Amino acid sequence: MKVIAINSSPMMDQGNTALILGPFIEGIREAGAKIELFHTKKLAIKPCQGCGNCWLKTPGRCSLDDDMSALLPRLADADLWILVSPVYVDGITGPMKNLMDRIIPLLMPFLELRDGHCRHLLRKGTKRGQVVLVSSCGGFEMDNFEPLLVHMKAFSKNVAREFKGSLLRPHALALKPMIKEGESLEDIFTAAKETGKQLVKNGQMPAEALRTIERNMMPRETYLRIVNQTFQQALDAL
Ligand SMILES: Cc1cc2nc3c(=O)[nH]c(=O)nc-3n(C[C@H](O)[C@H](O)[C@H](O)COP(=O)(O)O)c2cc1C
Repeated sequence: MKVIAINSSPMMDQGNTALILGPFIEGIREAGAKIELFHTKKLAIKPCQGCGNCWLKTPGRCSLDDDMSALLPRLADADLWILVSPVYVDGITGPMKNLMDRIIPLLMPFLELRDGHCRHLLRKGTKRGQVVLVSSCGGFEMDNFEPLLVHMKAFSKNVAREFKGSLLRPHALALKPMIKEGESLEDIFTAAKETGKQLVKNGQMPAEALRTIERNMMPRETYLRIVNQTFQQALDAL
């Protein structure tokens, strides 16, 4: 199984989302899959110009010459895409959207009917694999992820991939302070690793492990108080 993970958090390995992504990747690797991790912050990926050249002038090749040229064949060949984005103003990050728009050369202009819906044909050599979303957010509630989930599910259909599910970590601003205080979050990280292992071994992400990853870490009122206190202290220190 070939896996490509693309983290679009500008915080990269130091971010909250990486705290979930790290053990997930570890589990995938331990289960024997080949995985490559990229950070959009380290890549030059310009926004799509909408010129249509990748469909009609140079089929399969984008006119823009940047890091997407090296990424596209890897994406075409990967069984699983792990798309990683924190919630940014109720959506994915800008760099992740740029990357997703630039996937268009893997499709062709021709339409077919797929599950009763007009879809673009996949270009020859592009696998029909799977997609997993890994995300974290600063809001307390799980509904902060809804716009991303709607988008990722639609995107997966668009590129003829199966959306396998998501590893979601709400009220993620509490993660690092809780780790610093020595509070036990091991069950969350172990569940992320187990999810990676099971995905490779059995092709499924266990529902119970996903629930553990997104479990409440404290009452909502406590989270509000701690977040507000922390921000006030930071401003007072200016
Ligand atoms: C520009 C920006 C916009 C954000 N918008 C939201 C939002 O709409 N909803 C939310 O719950 N969290 C929002 N957050 C918080 C992040 O999703 C949260 O801190 C996340 O854990 C960051 O992950 P990272 O450290 O991996 O980058 C936003 C953060 C930034 C910097």
